[in-house]
Amino acid sequence: TVIPSSIDASRAVAAEVAALIRQRQHEKRPVVLGLATGSTPVAFYAELVRLHREEHLSFANVVTFNLDEYYPLPPEHPQSYRRFMQVHLFDHVDISPANIHLPSGTVAAAEIDAHCRAYEEAIRAAGGIDFQILGIGRTGHIGFNEPGSSRRSRTRLVTLDPLTRRDASGDFGDEEHTPRYALSMGVATILEARQVVLMAWGQHKAAVVRAAVEGEMTPQVTASFLQEHDHALFVLDQTAAGQL
Ligand code: GLP
Repeated sequence: TVIPSSIDASRAVAAEVAALIRQRQHEKRPVVLGLATGSTPVAFYAELVRLHREEHLSFANVVTFNLDEYYPLPPEHPQSYRRFMQVHLFDHVDISPANIHLPSGTVAAAEIDAHCRAYEEAIRAAGGIDFQILGIGRTGHIGFNEPGSSRRSRTRLVTLDPLTRRDASGDFGDEEHTPRYALSMGVATILEARQVVLMAWGQHKAAVVRAAVEGEMTPQVTASFLQEHDHALFVLDQTAAGQL
């Protein structure tokens, strides 16, 4: 789907998520959302907050699992994804803190594998992800599944690609202070979500969007694996769709 303005596109995706939340409320069932960070979903979260404030959208039945977190990085760090989520969504809605899940940026090195397995287990125990929100990095990554990530990958410690670190370095002051690692859901984890929406805005994403949508499915562009998902939608603005 191509929508000229990213703001309108973000509102449309938020409206779809809100409809799912309300439908589950009606059925008295929880809904499990997979959430993403970065500049791409900011307007999407702003619209969810507006719907909460102005249109009585409750998050009481919402369970969330974020894709990833920098490692090592404390949750209170201004650039942590935990902090991002608090600032853009969680601090402004009635979600229960017990329903919020992100990989931990402070887990001890020796505990990483167990932590990642427990994250996968928590997703399963919650019933799986109903609706997964994604952005896309210029390396073609979804979550932090950098080039080389297997189709079968699960939540794990990943090494960030130099291009990803360069793109993130503005947030951390310089490249030296930009984390080298992250904990990220795997490609297999993401593909198990029942419905997936990948959002991308701007000309700088046009080449990688084209590779993901029209290129071969390859671990070199992990977003390309969405081609095999029956309910995956790319929501693009005009410029991000410019090379299709
Ligand atoms: C980071 C995040 C991704 C995000 C990507 C693009 O690498 N881990 O989830 O999609 O950045 O960022 P932006 O949305 O700011 O372009």
